[in-house]
Formats: sequence, structure tokens, C-alpha cells
Amino acid sequence: MNDKQLVALQAAKYVKSGMLIGLGTGSTANYFIAELARLQRDEGLKVTTVASSTISGQNAQSLNLPIVALEHISSIDLYVDGADEITPEKTLLKGRGSDLVKEKLLAKAAKQFIAVADASKLVSHIGQNFVIPIEVIPFAWQLAKASLEDIGGVGDLRPNAANDGFWITSHGSYVLDMKFDKNLDASALNSLINNTPGVVEHGIFYQLADIVLIADNGAVSELSAY
Ligand code: 5RP
Repeated sequence: MNDKQLVALQAAKYVKSGMLIGLGTGSTANYFIAELARLQRDEGLKVTTVASSTISGQNAQSLNLPIVALEHISSIDLYVDGADEITPEKTLLKGRGSDLVKEKLLAKAAKQFIAVADASKLVSHIGQNFVIPIEVIPFAWQLAKASLEDIGGVGDLRPNAANDGFWITSHGSYVLDMKFDKNLDASALNSLINNTPGVVEHGIFYQLADIVLIADNGAVSELSAY
């Protein structure tokens, strides 16, 4: 069993029958979805799920997990999702893909959000290994980019896979992939980007994760913030 699977199985121990559970997106989240389906099939677990992406929803549907649409919920019991970066203070960077709008809505709506990752995701500061994905309204991209440059951002629109246009997220936004001064802490950066007109959402998940589980060479531990 690899570390991503191991940590996902650990997160599944927090699941109880009757819960409404948010499904994250990515390979680690997929292991969690598979475990939910196994618990439903083999151990009579009864849960309802809500997906952060079309791909996770399809995955859950193919495994016969009951799903409700995001628009019909106002809170959920538990959200389990992976991350691209995790700081010691439990700030996450997410959204390498296209689904961070729904991911952040579910992270915020959850009574408990458990982030799950292998140890390769641990960083000392947000933006250490990845650019920060910032979803912007397509017609506002130049204005948003100029505002982000004013606060020290450097970057550009993410190209599409064929490199002949721009990446469009599942929400219909463009993505500005930006780097910022590493001395700008996550709290400040989170507020500055939140206050930028034209920004729909961004990949910094600040003070949203309640529990961070990390698997490292076959052992899972809970990250304790300093
Ligand atoms: C998608 C995400 C993923 O959770 C993140 O990219 C981690 O993916 P993986 O579990 O495949 O390493 O934020 O938007």
C-alpha cells in the first residue's frame, strides 16, 4: 500500500454512518472515495456524498455512492481532500487542477476538514514548490493581473494543454499562476488576493483544515501546528 492510500484509509476512520461527506479531487482523494465505497459495500456504512469536481462525482457514482448536488447543501459533516503544499501552520495550497472553487466551498462548509497527503507535500511556506493558482473572471484577467502585480505577483495566464489557448477551470474561469515574495506570509497573501477585484477564488486554503494527516514511509501522523 502506498502512502497516499494509507493516509486516505486513516481519514476514513473519521467517517460515521449518517454523515454527509464532501469528496475531494485528486489521487489521494480517490483512495478515500474507494474506501468509502468499500465500507458501504462490506460493512453497511450509510453516507451521502457531495463532490468537489465532476471527475470525483463520476468516480463516486460508478462506485454506487449516493451523491447530492452542491447547490442543495448548506453544510456538510466531513470533507476529505489532498493538497499540493502544506505548511506547519496547516495552510494548504490547492487547485493544481481546475476545481478549487468547489473545493474551497466544501472545505469551508465542513464541520471537519481533514487534509490528507504524503510527506512530499510538506513545505515551510506557501508557494515554495508551486505557483499560486488564482482563478479570475475571463474578461477581468488583465485588470486582476495588474492588481496582483501591484502586490508583487509575477506570473501569467495558464495555457491550455495544447498550448493554443488558455486553461478554463470547471467554474469557467481563467487561471493566473503567480509567484509572490516568500516573505509575504499566508495570512497577508490570502487577504490581499481575496481583496483583488476580478478574482473568483485562489488556491491558498488559510485556516480551513482542522486536521492534517501525513503519511511518511508507511506511517501516518497528525500534523500539529506550532
Ligand atoms: C486538486 C487538488 C489536489 O487535492 C492536489 O493537487 C493533490 O493531488 P494528489 O492527491 O493527486 O497528489 O488540490 O485541485
